[in-house]
Amino acid sequence: MAEQITKREEWGSRYGLILAVAGNAIGLGNFLRFPVQAASNGGGAFMIPYFIFFLIVGIPLMWMEWGIGRHGGKYGHGSAPGMFDVLWKNKTAKYFGAIGLFVSTIILIYYTYIESWTLGYSFLSITKSYFGLENFEAMKTFLYGYQGREATSYFNGITIAYIFMIITFAINFWILYKGISKGIEKLAKIAMPALFVFAIIIVIRVITLGTPDPNVPENSVSSGFGFIWNPDFSKLGDPKIWLAAAGQIFFTLSVGMGTIHAYASYLKPKDDIVISGLATSATNEFAEVVLGGSIAIPISVAFFGIATTTAMAKGGSFDLGFAAMPLVFEQIPFGEFFGFLWFLLLFFAGITSSVAMGQQVIAFLEDEFGMSRKKAVLSLGFAVILAVQLVVFYLKFGYLDEMDYWAGTFGLVVFAFAETVIFMWIFGAEKAWDEMNEGGDIKIPRFFFYVMKYVTPLMLFIVMTWWLINDAIPILLLKGVAEENLLYIWGSRIFMIAVFGTFILLIHIAWKKKKVRNGTSN
Ligand code: ALA
Repeated sequence: MAEQITKREEWGSRYGLILAVAGNAIGLGNFLRFPVQAASNGGGAFMIPYFIFFLIVGIPLMWMEWGIGRHGGKYGHGSAPGMFDVLWKNKTAKYFGAIGLFVSTIILIYYTYIESWTLGYSFLSITKSYFGLENFEAMKTFLYGYQGREATSYFNGITIAYIFMIITFAINFWILYKGISKGIEKLAKIAMPALFVFAIIIVIRVITLGTPDPNVPENSVSSGFGFIWNPDFSKLGDPKIWLAAAGQIFFTLSVGMGTIHAYASYLKPKDDIVISGLATSATNEFAEVVLGGSIAIPISVAFFGIATTTAMAKGGSFDLGFAAMPLVFEQIPFGEFFGFLWFLLLFFAGITSSVAMGQQVIAFLEDEFGMSRKKAVLSLGFAVILAVQLVVFYLKFGYLDEMDYWAGTFGLVVFAFAETVIFMWIFGAEKAWDEMNEGGDIKIPRFFFYVMKYVTPLMLFIVMTWWLINDAIPILLLKGVAEENLLYIWGSRIFMIAVFGTFILLIHIAWKKKKVRNGTSN
């Protein structure tokens, strides 16, 4: 049980808090991952399971995570181990929290690097560095050169990418050092409105593109919108589309990571979470479906057509955003400006999410080890900068993809399943319900009680099992992995096991120390 309740930081205002949590959710997932997932899974066919999962898994998890987080905060815990420990009086409870710390740390490590590409590309856009490249293949080679995957004539090694990685890393940890209201909240108050303004400007530009090549009338912005918004019921029987939709909902809402909990832990016990949770989910969906859905796909369909857009999306997670989009920017008036805005928008989206991943671990070090914020930030920063090196230099061998699968896809569902069972079944559904509704400006509709208790865990279990059988086991057995990548994939796995093991050990040490201090048994 949490014994010492020391004074914790607090959010400055409700508006700031909602922006911060929305910033936590709105990320690269909304503008890069969503269009790729939608395009490669049949456009309109994808949107039906997407909204179903949003309703029966996304929103319920969001409320549960706000509830678990605010409850943990009452006892001085800002990370999953302590939160689970107060919900479930069992010695093993806190160790399940290691999954949350693991997921957010691993995502933080590779996400910071991807985020730095967006900053780098906003610079490359305004300086027109990729202007003149004539086709998609050339643009892709440019990207691979930037990332250090290939030796190209465009870049002298990985220097530029490395410099932007250091800048991105430094900004992230500086914000974390400034704290909850002076760092994270202030960032959200600047970055989120800016992001919306940038996105709206780009969307208006996209809508006014019409039919760029009158000789090919079928390639138009409106056919791009039609591609996403015409529901295609014939493909709903394909489980792959359902699983892709589930994965997108987790990633985009930042549920199953422990980061929503961390932010909610700085609420006051009677602060509303019902409207706030709903507002953040709705803001995220607006950013994803309305804004994110109105940029990369329509623009790409207008210039290249549906078939090529689908092929581009299937070709690689970053091809639409980093190769197709620049190809369009160089063809439109003031393209360097729109390119700059697009990548800066991505950077703002990314950074408001990455600080949330860092915050959970910092809260863990502060709350459970009594570290000062400065020491916690320095410790995490040191570990992350070392780990990022592996991602930077071994990217081309699949090091990042391996992390993304185990933490960013599979790990989220495992954590979400664990927290749902602990909160709704072990802590107790009625108690959990009261906890979530406490201080609420409105009551959560009772319908969601049954969804949270039965439907959400069942869906999570189905998704987890399906992934385990269809993806996780083949990936684990290295199906289709190129010989030269094997060593690096194993390296990535050993690294992840080490991170997980370290968190288990740290939790063990922290609770042992508390036991000695308080003479309690837990
Ligand atoms: N929710 C964050 C994103 O969409 C992680 O990128």
